[in-house]
Amino acid sequence: MNNLTEELPLHELQGIVLHGYGHLYEARFVLLSIRPGRAKDARRFLASLKLTTAATAARKAAEPGPFVNVAFTHRGLEALGLDSALLDNFPRDFVEGPTTEARARLLGDQGESRPSEWLWGAPAKAPVHAVLLAYAHRDIDSVCDDVLRDAADAGFEQVERLETIRLPRRQEHFGFRDGIAQPTIGAVPGNAVAAGEILLGHKNAFGEPAHVPGAPKSAFALNGTYAVLRQLEQDVRGFWSFCRAQGSSDGDAVRFASQMVGRWPSGAPLVKHAPADGDPRTDAASNDNDFEYAMADAKGLRCPFGAHIRRSNPRDWGTASSAKECRTVVSRHRIIRRGRAYGSPLCPDAEPLSYLKALDAPDPRPNRGLHFLCFNANIEQQFEFVQRQWCNNPKFAGLVNGVDPLIGDHRRLAGEEPAFSIQRELTAERVKMPARFVRTRGAAYLFMPTVRAVASLAES
Ligand code: HEM
Repeated sequence: MNNLTEELPLHELQGIVLHGYGHLYEARFVLLSIRPGRAKDARRFLASLKLTTAATAARKAAEPGPFVNVAFTHRGLEALGLDSALLDNFPRDFVEGPTTEARARLLGDQGESRPSEWLWGAPAKAPVHAVLLAYAHRDIDSVCDDVLRDAADAGFEQVERLETIRLPRRQEHFGFRDGIAQPTIGAVPGNAVAAGEILLGHKNAFGEPAHVPGAPKSAFALNGTYAVLRQLEQDVRGFWSFCRAQGSSDGDAVRFASQMVGRWPSGAPLVKHAPADGDPRTDAASNDNDFEYAMADAKGLRCPFGAHIRRSNPRDWGTASSAKECRTVVSRHRIIRRGRAYGSPLCPDAEPLSYLKALDAPDPRPNRGLHFLCFNANIEQQFEFVQRQWCNNPKFAGLVNGVDPLIGDHRRLAGEEPAFSIQRELTAERVKMPARFVRTRGAAYLFMPTVRAVASLAES
């Protein structure tokens, strides 16, 4: 733990903001709505919830769980009957949520990803007021059932229970190790974010305190944070069939897929272990987050400019005229990711080489993906910026119609075919992309108050 973290109110912060709960293999994200007229009961129930703090989460092994945290949509805070002066002071992104036409467009939620097609969170569906994040070693559904029994008595209804799964070696469904690169609050060189990039009321990367809605009259939002939850369905077979078509061997397919991601399946960064070197499967390489791009790979010969990790965190490269300025720009657009995979893997070992063998086998349960969850202090400047300006930007780093090869929506633009570009010494190979491998099935913008603020709901 670093200096700045020690200054944070660890006994008040909900634990998931600072810790991934990786030792608790089972998790459910339970979407709840509050029945009309039950605001007071609902507040009393929430205040009685035993929420996990960052201090408890830091003791990990000594704390067997279950761990429980909670966050609210703006409609949820309204349904709880919070003061209108507080409600009206929340930022527009959070108030509107992700489903307005303009936001859906900027997030790339169009075509089959448009909100009207979603399983939950769409305007025509049951409203999502609160999301309960529950984690345990085992029997997670009984943990949820116990909480929900009391919740139901207090006027809550379950809208959806999002199940999650833990894949081997922390892979996501395409078969790549995930959750390696995370910013920490504090002083880790190159990877630190100012506390106010995550927590309201603290100094952000501009040296300003992050806006606390309702302050100074209300302390409800102090030390809180915003969360973005998105159900992202992954077309694993489509992804690997496409990669298979890019070369003659399994090795070619894995190398091409890794160029789209920017890391090898093991997690080793391409910028340190170039496409020709193969996938080093050592712990040190798999967890390596100690790299930048400007000096190591200015021409994109190791890690293509358009790769998912190079554009979702360009580090010291491509966003300003010097490496130093790039780091400053990037420090204003970081997110802490806490997503979990859902659905059965295409192959039990979640290994690319097994996927390549299974491309023609039956796939009886194709509904799988990532319940993407991230934390930030400013949804527009952080999550939305990353998604819009970097991932979905067809001209990112001078590319020609090249959105994020992994998560982007690939469409023909101004006569140009959508492409993934692989830089070579004097030119770039442009690989034409199929429509998309990831589609949105639901989403919510949430506010996660401190444990103390949730407890104060009983008093209001
Ligand atoms: C199904 C959808 C997605 C998949 C399969 C996926 C997969 C991955 C993988 C394999 C990594 C490398 C592991 C790591 O560095 O931790 C990664 C990193 C990352 N992803 Fe995604 N991702 C998805 C969606 C998103 C979205 C929607 C965003 C934000 C808009 C995002 C932002 C990031 C960031 C910021 C990193 C870390 C980059 C770095 O710091 O080097 N991802 N993702």
